[in-house]
Amino acid sequence: MNTLTIDIRKAEIRDADAIAEVHHEAWRGAYAGIIPHRALTAMINRRGGEWWANAIRRAATVLVIEIGGMIAGYATLGRNRARELKQQGEIYELYLRPECQGIGLGTRLFSAARQRLADHGLKGMVVWALEENENALAFYSGAGGRDIAEGVEVFDQKALRKVAFVWE
Ligand SMILES: CC(C)(COP(=O)(O)OP(=O)(O)OC[C@H]1O[C@@H](n2cnc3c(N)ncnc32)[C@H](O)[C@@H]1OP(=O)(O)O)[C@@H](O)C(=O)NCCC(=O)NCCS
Repeated sequence: MNTLTIDIRKAEIRDADAIAEVHHEAWRGAYAGIIPHRALTAMINRRGGEWWANAIRRAATVLVIEIGGMIAGYATLGRNRARELKQQGEIYELYLRPECQGIGLGTRLFSAARQRLADHGLKGMVVWALEENENALAFYSGAGGRDIAEGVEVFDQKALRKVAFVWE
């Protein structure tokens, strides 16, 4: 039996291409059939390695979870963007490669992201998920999130409802 080490750390520039690949696979897996095809393809194409290298250089924190040397997922986090919610921190995105889902890695990455926000002195946390993304809803309510607000996101003229989960 091989033992694989699991490591969660801040992303480095050299991770940019691998994160772009995770983003591509995870977004296709999660949103095909929910977000209209053209809008989804455009969003994926916009975020290649260069885009991620810039994101890593800028202020928003990008974390990666690495398993046996492979980037299995990423999370981005920072200040809460929704003024109407009082929580100070936000996980903007949390995505795993489809083949790495369902084995507890999301839970680990989520805890690390939450801890990092707390370390930055941010009190409380918000995460938004599309209402049709049932796995994400199950994941965040299972992680103790309270769904307290709703919003709408429009993709190619298709309006999709989104839900905000909060942790105090
Ligand atoms: C949502 C996601 C981050 C969860 O991470 P994960 O590693 O797959 O989840 P875990 O293995 O840590 O599971 C934790 C809990 O999440 C829920 N969950 C995870 N995968 C699930 C699935 N496929 N269906 C239903 N619930 C699921 C379960 O409640 C599970 O609890 P349990 O182990 O007690 O049953 C991950 O599956 C993912 O990246 N999905 C696609 C992208 C996405 O939807 N991201 C969130 C966008 S807001």
